[in-house]
Amino acid sequence: MKIVVAIGGSILLEDYDCKKFKEYSEILKSLSYDHELFVVVGGGKPAREYINIVRNLGAGEAQCDDMGIDVTRINAKLLLTALGDSAYPKIPHNFQEAQEYSSHGKIIVMGGTEPAHSTDAVSAILAEFIQADKLINLTSVDGMYDKDPNKYDDAKLINEITAEEMLKVISNKDTKAGTYEFFDMAAIQMIKRSSLETTIANGHDPQNLIKIIKNEKIGTRIITD
Ligand code: UTP
Repeated sequence: MKIVVAIGGSILLEDYDCKKFKEYSEILKSLSYDHELFVVVGGGKPAREYINIVRNLGAGEAQCDDMGIDVTRINAKLLLTALGDSAYPKIPHNFQEAQEYSSHGKIIVMGGTEPAHSTDAVSAILAEFIQADKLINLTSVDGMYDKDPNKYDDAKLINEITAEEMLKVISNKDTKAGTYEFFDMAAIQMIKRSSLETTIANGHDPQNLIKIIKNEKIGTRIITD
């Protein structure tokens, strides 16, 4: 299968060390024998910190986004280093480059592309562009809840949701640089219009990636039919 995997910066850089990069690189290498893999790496805390600094220096929102993009590419570079020969050594800056580099048969790793969205949207557009069979978004929570699990003890994980319903829930959330909430609207629109098979799940356990590819029911599946 052709699979796009988005890994949140908050996952890879949870402890600001190499542990998660190593764990993910081992799993990605083993999956790459059977699948064509495209990995999109997020910015996490370092992106938000740099965005805050540049915003306090007077930068506008698009410039803040641009700073965020640079940080996602630095994070992508760390994963590239961990993957070694298994990955194509250059980070694509757009979707055409991602497709072009993939002809070498190696794992493709990239960060952001242009301002005004998060890496969730990058992964969804990339999945459209390369006509991926699956889009997997690994984030810091188990999936989408019916209410904020940090505020409500009885919040329930939603196993399946339509892209339509998800758009309604997400539409009133913040979209400033560094503050894309749980999932980016632009991403859901892509998922909807191209009926992308999508799962959002917890990336703290890298084994979840294998489970999703084996079709085990974890996280939140976005239904598009
Ligand atoms: P992320 O996609 O990592 O945002 O990009 P995030 O929501 O903070 O995700 P986690 O924490 O990694 O899961 C960081 C910031 O970089 C800018 C946005 O400002 C985003 O909030 N960005 C990223 C873009 O403007 N365009 C892109 O293509 C990617």
